[in-house]
Amino acid sequence: MAHKIRVWDLPTRIFHWLLVLSIFAQFITGNVGGDALTWHLRTGYFILSLLLFRLLWGFVGGHWSRFSSFVRGPRTVLAYLRGQAAFEDSVGHNPLGAGSVLLMLLLLGMQVASGLMSDDEIATAGPLAQHVSSAMVGLATHYHKATGKLMLVALVLLHVAAIVFYRAKKKQNLVSAMLHGDKELSQPVHASRDDGKSRTLAVLLFAACAAVVLLGVKFAG
Ligand code: HEM
Ligand code: HEM
Repeated sequence: MAHKIRVWDLPTRIFHWLLVLSIFAQFITGNVGGDALTWHLRTGYFILSLLLFRLLWGFVGGHWSRFSSFVRGPRTVLAYLRGQAAFEDSVGHNPLGAGSVLLMLLLLGMQVASGLMSDDEIATAGPLAQHVSSAMVGLATHYHKATGKLMLVALVLLHVAAIVFYRAKKKQNLVSAMLHGDKELSQPVHASRDDGKSRTLAVLLFAACAAVVLLGVKFAG
């Protein structure tokens, strides 16, 4: 008998799809440059708020969104690759996917951090550019426009390729769970909490993260 389990709570799903839209917006506005950079910076602050929120949600969010449910050591990853991992290890992010999720969050954080110190040498600079040395601005801008950008594109392509692979070879539709939240599982497992109270907590946490980012930007500028 299949068990319908809430795996991705609504805040995690909204976080994911807003992140996807915002990253696409960053590639468009970043490449257009000029006046579009005003929106690039605004969307960048929004992404920073999303990332801070996801960090906190990793401690207080639904069970399968918590880092404690998916951050695993190399032994579990090896066991998973040999097909010997425990059932519970593959309910949320599987041990291999969890590594790429953490890397994605780290790369996004570095993209934002370097953006805050970048300068297009025309009219737009991140709010921290005026507070660091010009060598640092040069380094950050180079990372932001070359290394960081390329690593992010590569990881996003790998991310989407992995999802297509699971669909085609393993007959697992991971996208539908990221849309409606539920998975049909062969064993009953702990469900993620996803009620009015936890959603209200998510809204308050996100508002607090956005307020901290906006205050920080105001203070730096
Ligand atoms: C800019 C592009 C993208 C970025 C930055 C991105 C980022 C992420 C991140 C950070 C997670 C972890 C979610 C969490 O635990 O909070 C994730 C998971 C996921 N993403 Fe994306 N994503 C992107 C594009 C896509 C696209 C286009 C799809 C659909 C085809 C997709 C489908 C998924 C799915 C299904 C998961 C859950 C994977 C699992 O079951 O372990 N993502 N993504
Ligand atoms: C994850 C979030 C971000 C992504 C994916 C991203 C991506 C990009 C891309 C693709 C470009 C164009 C690079 C090129 O010309 O080849 C760019 C340029 C730029 N970004 Fe970002 N960016 C992000 C966040 C930020 C943030 C938070 C800021 C500042 C607050 C920022 C400031 C800039 C500036 C000033 C440029 C122009 C650099 C130049 O043309 O010399 N970015 N970004």
